This record gives sequence, C-alpha cells and structure tokens, in this order.
Amino acid sequence: MLQLPSLTITDRDESRFFLFDDLRLLWEHARGTDLLDKADKPVTADASGPGAGSADDGIGKKDLQAVLIADEHVMAAHRERINAAFPEDMVRCFEVPSGETSKSVSMWNRVMDFAFSGPLKRNTPFIAIGGGVTGDLGGFAAASLMRGLPLYHVPTTLLAMVDSAIGGKTGINHAFGKNTIGAFYHPRAVLFDTAFLETLPQREWLCGISEVLKYGYISDPGLLVDGAALADPATRTPELLQHVIERSVRIKSGVVAADARESGRRAWLNFGHTFGHALETLDNYRNINHGEAVYAGMIAALFVSRRLGYQASDDTLLQLKEKYRLDLRPYTSRAAELVTLMTHDKKNRDKDIRLVLVSAHGSPLITSVSDRSLMTDAWKYTFDVLMT
Ligand SMILES: NC(=O)c1ccc[n+]([C@@H]2O[C@H](COP(=O)([O-])OP(=O)(O)OC[C@H]3O[C@@H](n4cnc5c(N)ncnc54)[C@H](O)[C@@H]3O)[C@@H](O)[C@H]2O)c1
Repeated sequence: MLQLPSLTITDRDESRFFLFDDLRLLWEHARGTDLLDKADKPVTADASGPGAGSADDGIGKKDLQAVLIADEHVMAAHRERINAAFPEDMVRCFEVPSGETSKSVSMWNRVMDFAFSGPLKRNTPFIAIGGGVTGDLGGFAAASLMRGLPLYHVPTTLLAMVDSAIGGKTGINHAFGKNTIGAFYHPRAVLFDTAFLETLPQREWLCGISEVLKYGYISDPGLLVDGAALADPATRTPELLQHVIERSVRIKSGVVAADARESGRRAWLNFGHTFGHALETLDNYRNINHGEAVYAGMIAALFVSRRLGYQASDDTLLQLKEKYRLDLRPYTSRAAELVTLMTHDKKNRDKDIRLVLVSAHGSPLITSVSDRSLMTDAWKYTFDVLMT
C-alpha cells in the first residue's frame, strides 16, 4: 500500500484533509472529537420517533455507533479493509447502489430511514465511503440529519479525491435537473487512502484525470504533464499519484476557501463544465459520464480561448484521445442544440453564455459570450478533432 505522509490543510470552513494510509486514523479522529462527547444523548426511532427523547443515561457501545454509507462496488472490493478500519460493532453500515441514480430523493429517504433506525445524536459521525455519488448523497444526508451530523468523506475514486470530496457541495438530482437539491456542507475531514484506487476501472481513472487537467489549465500547468502521465498505468507511479492528489487538493481547497459560495473565483472550477454539462444533458446522462464530458468541454473552451486571441493549446488533451475514445457520433449534427442548452445554464446572467476561458495555461478568466456561431464552431471543432 502507498505510504502517504499526513497533510492537513485547513480552509475557511475548517474542513480538514488528511493523506493517510490507514483508515483507522480517521476513525480515531471521529471517535476522539465526536463520539466521546457524551453531552448529547442519543435518540432512537424505537423511542418515540426520530428526534424525540433520549435513551437511558448510560451510553453503551451501541450508542457510539457511527453511521457509515458505502458504495456497493467499493464494499464488495474492499470489505476487509473497511471492516478492519471501522469495526462492525462501532458502525452501522448502509450500502449505496452504484450509479448516478442513487443521487435521488428516494435514496436520500432510505438513508434517512436507515439513520433513524438506530441510535442517533447530533454528534454521531456520518462517514461516506465511495465516489462522488456516495459523497454527494452522503453529504446531503449528513447535512439534513438533525440539522447536520459531523461528516467524514472517504473518497474512493480519483475524481472524488481530487474534486468532489472537497469544497462542501452536496446534493441529489431532481427531475428539474442534476444537483438541484442540496446544500453547502463541509466535512470535518476527508481521508485519502490510495489503496482504494487499485480496483478503479480505467474509465473512472480518466474521469478523475479530466479534473486534474482542469487544474492544470486554471492553476498549475505542471498538472497537464502529471495528469497525462496518470492516464497510462505504466507511468502511474505512487509518487506521481501522491503528488497529483496533494496538488489538486491544495488548488481546489485554496479556491474554495477564497470563495466558498461560488460568487467569483470558484467559478474557475467550471472550466470545460459549461460545455460538458450541455453534452451530459443532451446525452441524458446515459453514455457519456461527467469526466468524459468535461474532457470534450475543455477542448471546446480552449478553442474559444484561441479564437479570442489567447494562448491556449489543446495538445495535451488530444494526445489522450485514444485513451478516452469518446463516441460522439450521436451528437455531431446537434451542435446548435448544445449551444441552446448552454444558454440555459444556471450560471448565466441574461442571454449571454458565461464561460471560463484561459488567457494562458494556468491563467483563467471569466467572460460572457453572445456569439452563438462561435460556440457552434467550438462544438464542431471538438467533434472533428475527436472523431477523426
Ligand atoms: N460535490 C462536488 O463538488 C462534485 C464535483 C464533481 C462531481 N460531483 C459528482 O460526482 C459524481 C461522479 O463521481 P464519480 O466519478 O466518483 O462517480 P461514482 O461515485 O459513480 O463512481 C464511479 C464508479 O466507480 C465505482 N467505484 C468507486 N470507487 C471504486 C473503487 N475504489 N474501485 C472500484 N470501483 C469503484 C462506483 O461503484 C461507480 O460504479 C457525479 O454525481 C457528480 O455530479 C460532485
């Protein structure tokens, strides 16, 4: 297993990020700061309903149980590791079915029911183990339960390690749109154990790499080289992985700390995403996943940057096209529809499309674009370079 030094980065919202090689350290942290605080008495569903009354005065071992939710694939592949770190008598465990459909009101409700089916108090730790789906669902569940339980993220995909577990965005989907129900809710700690990544499928690696490359374009051009090297299992060394995760966490937490609620700098994190979200929407979230859409979206955003006279090369992205192997054939004749979808983006002000571009690698800028033909050209260029 990769030996990672511990790293603590504290942002304005007091989330902490730990790079540890032992989940038990997180558990010790959770127990030390939350479970052993006996001032709050547990409430149980079998008393007189959720939130009503307390159990007996003595706090037994069972009352100290944390609520743990884990992605089913992660649980299947890493059960021993998880059980060793979180002994079964100390946690109550709920398995989350894999996939985006788990970010739903009905799954959130099932997590609520599960949480209230045992002892629960305001400082019961809530631990979410999995990728962005489990993290977003778990984060919103933790934010909702008793108006907020202490949340601990254990990200198990590269995307979750470098992006979704950091920054405090939690939420679920609604027919109205993706991530339309949610809250900003920061975890107490995020724990990184890269041993989870040993079972991560290559397609999921690439999704995380898209976000790493994004940090390369908006902040640290060195990550363009490092992110591309991670795409090939032959060059994916533990040292490189550690460096990329640490650097990405620092960049994202730095941006979030400076702008926790996305009024200014945080919007930089949307580089490639305005284009990407349109593609995901047109695809109905079926064939193209988030990181793949962001990959294509960055190519389009770099095209617009160049058209506006900036220094913005897409060489690194195009070198990876045989790895991503995106099949965009169903969308190549639908550039105009994609542009229309982009005008509906919730981040737009009036009818212009608000875009994050780069003036040079590592230097983002935010601009509003009214020229629809420029956006259509960006899509056509992206289809051309990826499909030939
Ligand atoms: N909150 C945020 O700031 C934020 C940022 C970016 C993305 N997101 C959200 O994150 C979600 C995507 O996250 P994701 O890419 O991690 O997807 P995911 O959680 O669906 O995980 C991807 C797949 O990998 C499997 N998996 C997870 N860890 C594994 C492991 N260690 N070994 C083997 N298989 C494993 C899962 O079962 C799933 O099939 C989307 O819902 C997106 O909206 C949130």
